[in-house]
Amino acid sequence: MSEFDFPEGFLWGAATAAYQVEGSPLADGAGPSIWHRFSHTPGNTANGDTGDVAADHYYRYASDVALMKELGLQSYRFSIAWPRIFPEGKGRINQAGVDFYSRLIDLLLANDIVPNATLYHWDLPAALHDLGGWLNPDIASWFGDYASAMFDRFGNRVPMWSTLNEPAIVMDLGYVTGFLAPGHRDIYEGAIVTHNLLRAHARGVQAYRGQNQTGKIGIAVSLEPRYEASDSAEDKAAARRMHAWSNSQFLDPIFLGKYPHELQEIFHDAWIPPADDELKLISQPIDFVGVNYYTRSVVEHDGKRPIFHISRIAQNGNPHTDMGWEIYPAAFTDILKWVNSRYGDIPIYVTENGSAWPDPPTAIDGRIEDPQRIDYLVSHLKAVHDAIEQGVNLRGYYAWSLLDNYEWAHGYAKRFGIVHVDYETQQRTIKDSGRFYSKVIATNGASLG
Ligand code: FCB
Repeated sequence: MSEFDFPEGFLWGAATAAYQVEGSPLADGAGPSIWHRFSHTPGNTANGDTGDVAADHYYRYASDVALMKELGLQSYRFSIAWPRIFPEGKGRINQAGVDFYSRLIDLLLANDIVPNATLYHWDLPAALHDLGGWLNPDIASWFGDYASAMFDRFGNRVPMWSTLNEPAIVMDLGYVTGFLAPGHRDIYEGAIVTHNLLRAHARGVQAYRGQNQTGKIGIAVSLEPRYEASDSAEDKAAARRMHAWSNSQFLDPIFLGKYPHELQEIFHDAWIPPADDELKLISQPIDFVGVNYYTRSVVEHDGKRPIFHISRIAQNGNPHTDMGWEIYPAAFTDILKWVNSRYGDIPIYVTENGSAWPDPPTAIDGRIEDPQRIDYLVSHLKAVHDAIEQGVNLRGYYAWSLLDNYEWAHGYAKRFGIVHVDYETQQRTIKDSGRFYSKVIATNGASLG
């Protein structure tokens, strides 16, 4: 017994996303995604990096599954690239794309690793983008058809599904601030995209239930606690707006059947209240919430800033990761408790959590020492354990990420893996953090004590 034992049956895993690890995005008849286009457009990504090769997981999945086994992972969270399945986004299915995921899933099962699939981790088929993408209301049925095809093929082998990964980031960074694909900067688009993401999510859940599938379906959201910089009413209101923007914008409609009223304050006349029957569809029950947590922020009211009228206050006294993200594990416990108190006793999986550090490009004597990543892992796993002790219904944890990979607009400069990838040779090396995590899994948390 240790003070850090996790509940029996707690699921330990690691996560990746298709465009970030697979490489060969156009192989075997796949169509281009918005990320393929975005990364190939000069000026959009650090160093002009693209996902063309990434960690070559498309060809190395078998040895990567062997690595998962060596680490003792009990589950692998991956995403399916929609344009590998539907090169034009809808209509014709590309069997070679289906076969790739089918082989991966079979191999996971043969190794007793639970497959956990995400249907949308940001790689929208470019052909659908040309029809308006997330701005076109028809995307709900395009997504529903894609989801349905995946449940039909893999539903009996994949027991855990997420419809979308981080819809708030898709909307905000994809359509409002433009740092991620498709790189738009339009608050009016943001309001439409939010609603269409939720409508698509709902069609995915509906398709799953319609097939009488027996696994679990949920959604993975990014949660970033927002703390007010002072007790002033203005700063408190700023924190409340930011909290609604990043944390309740998607969960309130799903669990409470309504949008947080702060959205009206943020979107102003861009906000069009949705119809009741749509909210009803959006709020149909799901089986779990996936929480992606990395950092928190402290905000204050700033009348000079556009749209939100908010500034982030740097917490210079606290440590930050290579992403410049403050390390503040207590916020992780807080936000998990918040989900539990606001939305009830819904099972929660931490679907992503991890940190980037400047590991060397090549392993040194076959080893990568990453004590800071271990520290982050320890403090955040303890934060998760705290939340469990305080009654949060937490069922599992996925480290982000299994492999060093393509960190979107940051390219390959930011390394999040518990397994190092030498991009020159594609050689994998389990980092010290990977070995550490392996022991945590083997002892169900006890070794944290
Ligand atoms: C999350 C994304 C994931 C990865 C991590 C660092 O927002 O879901 O793909 O980029 O951040």
